[in-house]
Amino acid sequence: MFDSGVGGLTTLETLQQLLPQENFLYAADFSHAPYGTKSRDEIIVRAEACAMRLIAEGAKAIVAACNTATAAGIETLRAQFDMPIVGAEPALKPACEAPNVRSVLVMLTPAAAAQPKFRALTAEFPNVDIRLLTVPTLAADVESRIHDRDALRALTFRTLEGAPRCDAVVLGCTHYVYLRAFVEEFFETVPVFDGNVGIARRVRTLLDRRALLNDDGRGRVRFLAL
Ligand code: DGL
Repeated sequence: MFDSGVGGLTTLETLQQLLPQENFLYAADFSHAPYGTKSRDEIIVRAEACAMRLIAEGAKAIVAACNTATAAGIETLRAQFDMPIVGAEPALKPACEAPNVRSVLVMLTPAAAAQPKFRALTAEFPNVDIRLLTVPTLAADVESRIHDRDALRALTFRTLEGAPRCDAVVLGCTHYVYLRAFVEEFFETVPVFDGNVGIARRVRTLLDRRALLNDDGRGRVRFLAL
């Protein structure tokens, strides 16, 4: 799996819960972070570089644990590498289909919001008022405050100040999953969705389909910083 940095670790945690015997290799592309302010072409180049490195290290499947890399580059990866490739998408479906939801706030990076893939996803829910909150610096701000709960809480409240009230919130960037508790606190009773469980289930399905599931592994994790 790869991400521009620590965001995808939230995805890794969910994957480990669902697939405890799989061994994981996590690449954090720190030297090219953040992705969310890069052009589509730049993001695709990085997604390819991360995937190639993971494959060179022995990966049997790739998880783009990054909504931005998925929106820009997942098709390119699928065309290039013949193996299960799973991306991270904003959890719009469960949010839009939740009871009494007529409006949804999606938090995501500017680059993810700009991709046709994201626009196509929003078009699937014509009856829901989908509003976007893009903050160019938010993923990097999460990254730099990752060990400071109070700072993450203050960052969340500052970011959401003035955000429209909606019936549901979608965390459309894996970095923002670290802010979940504070987003829930800010919006009080509004449900908050992220895509991690969906990603983990999809990985399990694809590995199973290709008979690639590891049922006697030890759940090792190896980290790479690119
Ligand atoms: N964690 C990534 C995502 O899910 C990207 C953050 C960034 O590098 O801007 O979109």
